[in-house]
Amino acid sequence: MGSPVSGGKTACVTGGSGYVASVLVRQLLDGGYIVNATVRDPGNQAKVSHLLKLPGSERLKLFRADLTVEGSFNDPINGCDLVFHVASPILSESKDPENEMIKPAVEGALNVLRACANTKTVKRVVLTSSIAALSRRPEKEDGRILTEECWSDVEYLLSEKPPNWGYPLSKTLAEREAWKFAAENQIDLITVIPVLVAGPSLTPEVPQTAILALSILTGNEDRLKTMQLGYGSVPLVHVDDVCRAHIFLGEKESAAGRYICCALSTTVPELAKFLSNRYPQFKVPTETDFRDFPTEPKYPVSAEKLIKEGFAFKYGMEEIYDESVEYFRTKGLITK
Ligand SMILES: NC(=O)c1ccc[n+]([C@@H]2O[C@H](COP(=O)([O-])OP(=O)(O)OC[C@H]3O[C@@H](n4cnc5c(N)ncnc54)[C@H](OP(=O)(O)O)[C@@H]3O)[C@@H](O)[C@H]2O)c1
Repeated sequence: MGSPVSGGKTACVTGGSGYVASVLVRQLLDGGYIVNATVRDPGNQAKVSHLLKLPGSERLKLFRADLTVEGSFNDPINGCDLVFHVASPILSESKDPENEMIKPAVEGALNVLRACANTKTVKRVVLTSSIAALSRRPEKEDGRILTEECWSDVEYLLSEKPPNWGYPLSKTLAEREAWKFAAENQIDLITVIPVLVAGPSLTPEVPQTAILALSILTGNEDRLKTMQLGYGSVPLVHVDDVCRAHIFLGEKESAAGRYICCALSTTVPELAKFLSNRYPQFKVPTETDFRDFPTEPKYPVSAEKLIKEGFAFKYGMEEIYDESVEYFRTKGLITK
């Protein structure tokens, strides 16, 4: 593979209609790219109309592709300079994680990479992994900083089956298989490891993770508490920064390996304190309501590698929440 590219070239985005991917499509179009986006059903207006309305959409082409259908990524990837593999099933609950999450994630990553190996044009593949591929381990030292060296423990996830084990296992195995295939086939692969993504979505539906990030304001923070217990902190990043990081890493010649994409690591009590000060109009539980809950991240997440590569996050806690609150107002999910 040759050196990475900058604007004016063709990029493929898999799962183009999703939360992260549709913002990525918008940023690529804004940057002058021609974009081939894959969706499961290009005829489903409810899923694709937000993409077709984007400025620059005359440079956007939709392709039908499913992670589980071998060969379905060949056409959209053929002729591309850059490939962003974003699609992956995300289900908070599943009766059959093996077939609903693990197989599609692993087979999908390999299908995409096989299509990349088959065309001579692809210079770099950027795969969206997750903090879930990095932080789910049985016991860790408190205060240990999570870096790109860390991997979730496959044996532990399979034998102990902790809450929502299917998703971390799907992301861990998909990323591991991707690295193996890339090494065997000389593919220039980068993985981006986002933490909890928040901020406005282009999709008609409000994404689950944006809802989770705001759940202290909407009064159902139990899943956020579960997240803190499972991951060791509540690490946050704005969707615009996640997508900017994908493009930055796709274009940056020196980039290599895995990159955590995390603007900040906090905890439920810290978040409650911040939100009750910033938005006094909401009845936010204060940090004293979470007295028994850890106030410090047990395992803070570090984005030092990405920052050292030259990337600057635009959104901190205040910007993430100001935009999210405004977005929820426009969606009628909060009224104050
Ligand atoms: N949001 C977060 O907090 C977060 C954090 C870390 C990592 N990530 C990663 O970021 C990526 C995007 O997530 P998201 O938050 O944008 O979620 P999302 O909106 O649910 O996007 C997932 C995309 O994957 C597609 N997909 C699922 N199963 C598929 C299949 N069998 N064949 C083809 N496409 C399939 C979905 O298509 P349909 O619309 O047709 O279902 C959707 O477009 C994922 O890889 C996720 O693991 C997200």
